Amino acid sequence: MQEKLLEIANEAERAIERADTVEAVEELRIRYLGKKGVLTQLLRGMGALPAAERPLVGKLANEVKVRLESLLADRASTLKKHAKARKLAAERIDVTLPGLRPFLGSLHPLTVVRTEIEEIFLGLGFQIVEGPEVELDYYNFEALNFPKDHPARDMQDTFFVSDEVLLRTHTSPVQVRTFEKTAPAVPVKIIAPGKVYREDDDATHSPMFHQVEGFAVDTHITLADLKGVLNSFVREMYGEKTRMRFRPSFFPFTEPSAEVDISCVICGGRGCRVCAHTGWLEILGAGMIHPRVLEVSGYDSEKVSGFAFGMGIERIAMLKYGVDNIRLFFDNDIRFLAQF
Ligand code: FA5
Repeated sequence: MQEKLLEIANEAERAIERADTVEAVEELRIRYLGKKGVLTQLLRGMGALPAAERPLVGKLANEVKVRLESLLADRASTLKKHAKARKLAAERIDVTLPGLRPFLGSLHPLTVVRTEIEEIFLGLGFQIVEGPEVELDYYNFEALNFPKDHPARDMQDTFFVSDEVLLRTHTSPVQVRTFEKTAPAVPVKIIAPGKVYREDDDATHSPMFHQVEGFAVDTHITLADLKGVLNSFVREMYGEKTRMRFRPSFFPFTEPSAEVDISCVICGGRGCRVCAHTGWLEILGAGMIHPRVLEVSGYDSEKVSGFAFGMGIERIAMLKYGVDNIRLFFDNDIRFLAQF
């Protein structure tokens, strides 16, 4: 019996050493020391031993039991420590690894260009003002010298909310809204960026687009001031070598009126597909503010004069970046937008 006990003890010790999980250790505990375990079973047979041998075997059996219990506990605790160490090693943060770059958005090209335009004019002493997109017929047309049924209204056909309320077709109504507040004081130097709406839709015209209005009123404003301001703008926007020209035109709210062209940014003026072989690209409309517009707004047109201009931000951006379809700005294709 003693031999058998020692044999079981040896076998159990080796098995405990080899156990590689806490669960395996627990299985061994049950196998040897559990109610139906090997050792327990063996001890049940003690009754068959001669009375003299029993205390000796009993003592040995107890020693084996205590030893196995202690080995099992040690092994379980070692395995737990290993498992914890492995888990920590797997979780350890390597602070020397390069970080994962989060996806960064970028400004919309029209925002980039609008900001650039604003900064150029702020540098020239202009202030920024905004007006409503839903506008009264009075400010959009009437006060700007477009009487009802004037054919010039057709070129700016738009979305009417009611007979007197519409989505503004240009930023020029901001002129009158501003003058109503400033008159008769001078000087006034304002730019007014914002959304405008027209019944247009082709590769270079969108039903919603952006304009920047610019205007100045003072005692001795002349066409030379308009040219000087626009020349500074064009050179800062498109480079020192860019040339500019005025072509006679018509707007009901300016007199004289002009379309302003710049030398083609693609071919430098030699003539190419983009400028339709003319060497010139139209960028904005401008002129001297019509005396009637000054008068309805509260200014004395005998005492003060002013200039005004209006440019399309999409057009400026298309020329600057060589974009050939205006819809690209509004399609929200990230492959296009990410280039700016
Ligand atoms: C005007 O809107 C005048 N208010 C400009 C002005 C202001 C003249 C002050 C005199 C004094 P025009 O309709 O030409 O003018 O439009 C100005 C610019 O807006 C155009 O040169 C063009 O760049 C842009 N534009 C016009 N229609 C569209 C459109 N549907 N889509 C995109 N850009 C447009």
